Amino acid sequence: MPADLHDPNAPAASGAGGGSGAAAAAKAAEKEEVKDYFESTGFERWNRIYSDSESVNNVQRNIRIGHQKTVDAVLAWLEQQGDLASRSFCDAGCGVGSLSIPLAQLGAGSVAASDLSAAMVAEAGRRAAEAGIEAGRLSFSTSDLESLEGRYDTVICLDVFIHYPQAAAEEMVRHLAGLAERQLIVSFAPYTPLLALLKGIGQLFPGPSRTTRAYQLRESGITAAAAAAGFRPLQSSLNQAPFYYSQLIAYERA
Ligand SMILES: C[S@@+](CC[C@H](N)C(=O)[O-])C[C@H]1O[C@@H](n2cnc3c(N)ncnc32)[C@H](O)[C@@H]1O
Repeated sequence: MPADLHDPNAPAASGAGGGSGAAAAAKAAEKEEVKDYFESTGFERWNRIYSDSESVNNVQRNIRIGHQKTVDAVLAWLEQQGDLASRSFCDAGCGVGSLSIPLAQLGAGSVAASDLSAAMVAEAGRRAAEAGIEAGRLSFSTSDLESLEGRYDTVICLDVFIHYPQAAAEEMVRHLAGLAERQLIVSFAPYTPLLALLKGIGQLFPGPSRTTRAYQLRESGITAAAAAAGFRPLQSSLNQAPFYYSQLIAYERA
């Protein structure tokens, strides 16, 4: 769970994701706040975390370690399933390409990676070029995931929902499931009473840079949203490090 996005005063959930005008306005405002963050301070911070830079503090180093566990778990699952060359992937909210790049290197047929932040997309493209990945196998675009269209064998969205309350995250799951032929893989900070308590008293997330809200999500709601779109759980893992806590679930079309 990204520690430096924590705001202990944030509401557990807002009306975002609802149907009223006020809820729609709240949802749009929240997304704009997230976008602004990841075009500026957030880009600079997360570009360092998702790298081997030494310029990270202890919290950021642990988030890096935990996030790598999530990425490695996805790559291991996909390798076990095999036949990567015949599969198309969508990496929604790709960040700097931490998943897309190794996935292309593993031999994925195609990877369409996108992110809300143009700064993230530019850095992901730079890293892909540096890694020598052939253009065509891996493409990048700037897009919020709600605007994504098309059909992919597998849609993946890692550590993005943390920026959105339950209802908005569930809406995103339904949308992404609609793009997936075979599998949907998502990760999010799970709601547990203990974590909620610690979050409430601000012990887990020290530090001054509490920039946007961070939300813990109820797995039951995420799985219900996937089920409503015709998907059932296939495998899951809870990936942890100090200051990082992320539930990873692969859903398959039922
Ligand atoms: C914590 S980073 C995770 C990046 C990447 N998925 C990974 O695991 O390496 C969150 C990313 O989600 C992106 N993001 C947030 N809201 C988004 C949205 N509505 N649509 C697309 N990307 C979004 C941010 O710009 C940021 O790059």
